[in-house]
Amino acid sequence: MIATTPPGQARWSSRAAFVLAATGSAVGLGNLWRFPTEAGMNGGGAFVFFYILFVALIAAPLLLSETLIGRHGQRSTIASAAYLARQSGASPAWSALAIVGLIANTLILTFYGVVAGWVLYFVYTSGADLLGAIVGGQPLAGAYATESVDHIRTLMPNLFANPVLLVGLQFLFMAATTLIVARGVKGGIEAAAVWLMPAFFILLLAITVYAAITGDFGAALTFLFTPDFERALQPGVLSAALGQAFFSLSLGGGAMIAYGAYASRDTNLGSTSGIIAFADSGVAIIAGLAIFPIVFSVGLEPNAGPTLMFQTLPAAFHAMPGGALVGFLFFVLAFFAALTSSVSLLEISVAWVTEKFRMSRFNAAMLMGILVFLIGLLSALSFNLLADQRPIPFVPGFENANWFDAIDGMTSRLFLPLSGLITAIFIGWFADRKLVNAETGLSGPVLVMWRFLIAWVCPLAVAAILVIGLFPGLLG
Ligand code: PHE
Repeated sequence: MIATTPPGQARWSSRAAFVLAATGSAVGLGNLWRFPTEAGMNGGGAFVFFYILFVALIAAPLLLSETLIGRHGQRSTIASAAYLARQSGASPAWSALAIVGLIANTLILTFYGVVAGWVLYFVYTSGADLLGAIVGGQPLAGAYATESVDHIRTLMPNLFANPVLLVGLQFLFMAATTLIVARGVKGGIEAAAVWLMPAFFILLLAITVYAAITGDFGAALTFLFTPDFERALQPGVLSAALGQAFFSLSLGGGAMIAYGAYASRDTNLGSTSGIIAFADSGVAIIAGLAIFPIVFSVGLEPNAGPTLMFQTLPAAFHAMPGGALVGFLFFVLAFFAALTSSVSLLEISVAWVTEKFRMSRFNAAMLMGILVFLIGLLSALSFNLLADQRPIPFVPGFENANWFDAIDGMTSRLFLPLSGLITAIFIGWFADRKLVNAETGLSGPVLVMWRFLIAWVCPLAVAAILVIGLFPGLLG
């Protein structure tokens, strides 16, 4: 059945469904793939320290701001922001926060679908491998036990050398995302989150325990939690940590406004936002504790970049008892996580298109799904046909970035924080105080603290980090 409910009338069926869907949006490749990648490339502990600080002081207060804009407006992200502005006697131009957000989040989905395609590739190869092991009577063999490590290392380069396969996998993932969004809020997004998220948590815990037992847990703890502050003050680390906080919590004028719009009046947004922020950063840390012990135990480098999860882990699972099973489970887990995030990325523009052009949800989902897939080709082909293209060489830090790195870096380091900055100024200073306070569900000192964070700490800190990011020379 195809849902035809216009935005403004769709609802989650319960508070738990809202929490699961929003956590499903937050927890994704950002935690499993991007967090270890960024931590590995930005010095481990220093990055993790600022990431946690930014989640607590900037991202969590903003998460509450976004959900409240959505719930108050009960419309698409752009219309919800404009509605709150009008009700507050402020300019509807504040909806710029959601316009920037819509563009950024739609662009994020273009490369997100590509990485999720890589995940699908490993679901397939590790699944076939596990099947072989079971048929061969050795269900607890290491991953790709019949292959050499050198061969396993070539899995990723081989995939990259095959544009047709890459694009096909990206297409499959985008098709799944589009179909879920087309089915609507309850029948599609909520149903997916309610099944996939609990499965995700169980699998993640099992893999972390496995990593702690079989891997080098001590080395991982040291790497993630011993901050080297000299490293932290190098240009790039602060904006990387802030960008990751936004990316991981699905912040920056989009997903959380969209999902907040389907929350019921009696949901306490303050405590709900706290739970989501805590769950998401918890999963990032746990994912780090699952991945780095394995990386270190087989002597691999943590700063491998975007291929860390895909090149190091299969090789590591190779050497480990039960690796075939655990490797397969890990990629299935990553696939679940990616899907519950990608639907939130697509929902933002789909809700807007349905509302603005009075299109059916199904048609809007198809339209946006295809558009995102097509733009995503730039990222998919960044590893082969378009490998030599440098789209924004004039931006400091992006001289050598291909399409994939440029779209990822610009959206999370620039667009998401920019949208967050506008949101913080709007909510902290221009939106009707009484109305906003009532929506938060907070009271007493917690409310006072939240108001202080959103009015002062968020705008000043985000602005400062944006400036530092734009002029990397400042700290260098
Ligand atoms: N938070 C998601 C993840 O960690 C990605 C995402 C970003 C989703 C922005 C929605 C909006 O994978």
